[in-house]
Amino acid sequence: MEIKNPKDSLTVITDLVLPSETNPIGNMFGGELLARMDRAASIAARRHSRRIVVTASVNHVAFNKMIPLGSVVTVEAKISRAFKSSMEVFLDVWIEDRESGNRTKANEAIYTFVAVDEMGIPVTVPQLVPETVLEKERFEAALRRKQLSLVLAGKMKPAEATELKALFETT
Ligand SMILES: CC(C)(COP(=O)(O)OP(=O)(O)OC[C@H]1O[C@@H](n2cnc3c(N)ncnc32)[C@H](O)[C@@H]1OP(=O)(O)O)[C@@H](O)C(=O)NCCC(=O)NCCS
Repeated sequence: MEIKNPKDSLTVITDLVLPSETNPIGNMFGGELLARMDRAASIAARRHSRRIVVTASVNHVAFNKMIPLGSVVTVEAKISRAFKSSMEVFLDVWIEDRESGNRTKANEAIYTFVAVDEMGIPVTVPQLVPETVLEKERFEAALRRKQLSLVLAGKMKPAEATELKALFETT
């Protein structure tokens, strides 16, 4: 079984916020950011699997900070865990101060992609071995998020979500 590290899938997309991409108070549309994140995540999933990939779910998005017109926005995507055919992709979004160049974390999101063949049938992907402390934390929590996503999508019975049940168990 082929093994890869998160850095193998690292995808960084940097672009400006243009007037057509803003809301009436001059900040970036959420949908525009979602599209940029989907593109970056899709490339990361493709780099990990080297297969056709499709978005299976958007598990979490936090729009913590407004992103003003003219901002330089960087979306960083990396695989945080690979399962059989599915991959969790973690996205960090940064904005850059015009004068200092310092980066501030604006948003983050978690997407799930599935590798498929030409017929759209799921195929096995390489396993992922995390390296840094943050990558290990994200890897550990990913199974819990996968079960939650499957339960919310009606694809797993809550009783089968062992990782979620473990969260609420008191011993
Ligand atoms: C994603 C898709 C391939 C899954 O197909 P499926 O018939 O549910 O296949 P499976 O049940 O075998 O699931 C395949 C994998 O996806 C995972 N998965 C499916 N739905 C999921 C969800 N909502 N959240 C997290 N993982 C999910 C399964 O757990 C499984 O993972 P694993 O192989 O790593 O264990 C299928 O639903 C699809 O093609 N959807 C449309 C994708 C698309 O067009 N996206 C763009 C929208 S514009």
